[in-house]
Amino acid sequence: MKPLAIIGGTGIDELEGLEVLRDHRIETPFGEPSRPIQEGRLGNTTLYFLQRHGSPGAIPPHRINYRANIWALKSLGVAGIVAINSVGGITSTMRPGRLLIPDQVVDYTWGREHTFDDGEDGTLMHIDFTEPYDRALREALLKAAETADIPHEARGVHGITQGPRLETAAEIQRLARDGCDVVGMTGMPEAALAREADVPYASICMVVNPAAGLGDLPLTLAMMREILASEAAVVRKLLSELLTRHNGA
Ligand code: HPA
Repeated sequence: MKPLAIIGGTGIDELEGLEVLRDHRIETPFGEPSRPIQEGRLGNTTLYFLQRHGSPGAIPPHRINYRANIWALKSLGVAGIVAINSVGGITSTMRPGRLLIPDQVVDYTWGREHTFDDGEDGTLMHIDFTEPYDRALREALLKAAETADIPHEARGVHGITQGPRLETAAEIQRLARDGCDVVGMTGMPEAALAREADVPYASICMVVNPAAGLGDLPLTLAMMREILASEAAVVRKLLSELLTRHNGA
C-alpha cells in the first residue's frame, strides 16, 4: 500500500509524533516545493508530510508554489493527499473549533499558477471537477472521524479567496449568498492541480474564527492560532485513525 501525504496549513508546522525518516528535496519543472517533503512514521504507519507555507519561512497563500507541491508529491507516488486548511466560518454551524470535511468548492482566487496545462502538447486538459474532492478519500475521512468519535460536519462548501488580507463583511455576505459555508485562502488551485495530476485529494477544514462581520472581535492571527492549537490535536487524532485504516493495521 502506497503512503498517503498530508499537506499541513497554518498551525500545523510539524506533525507531532512524526518520526522523520528522510527529507525529500525535489526539484520540479515548476521549481521547488514549499519545503523538503518529510517521509516519516506516525505510530505504525508511513506517510509524507509537506507544510504548504514552508517553515521557518511563511509563504503567503498567493505565493505558494502549488504546482511544485503537487508535482513533487505525485512524483513520490503517494496514494492520495489529505489537505489541512484553516478557515473562517460563515454558516452558523461552522463555529470556531469545528471540523468540516468539505464536498464542494467555490474558487475566488486570481492570478495564481493554477494548471499544469500549458497548451504546448496540443491537447486540452478539461478535467472533470464536478466533485472537486475524491469521493473515496472523503469517505475514508468521514469513516475515520466517526470511528474516532470526532465531531465534524460531513459536507459543506469551501470558498477560497485570494488573500492575504481577510475579507470585508460585504464580501462574506456575498460568499454566503453563493452558498459558501467556510472561507479560506489555500484550497485552490491545490485541489484542481491534484485532480489534473490524477492524485486523490480531500480536505479537512478547521474553523478558527467567525468570518468577517459575523463575530464581535477584529480578526487577529493570535486569536486564530489559539483555536488552531487545540484543533490541531483533534486533526492529529483524525489523521492517525485514517492512516491506520489506510495501512490496514
Ligand atoms: N478568511 C479567509 N481565510 C481564513 C480565514 C478567514 O476568515 N480564517 C482562516 N483562514
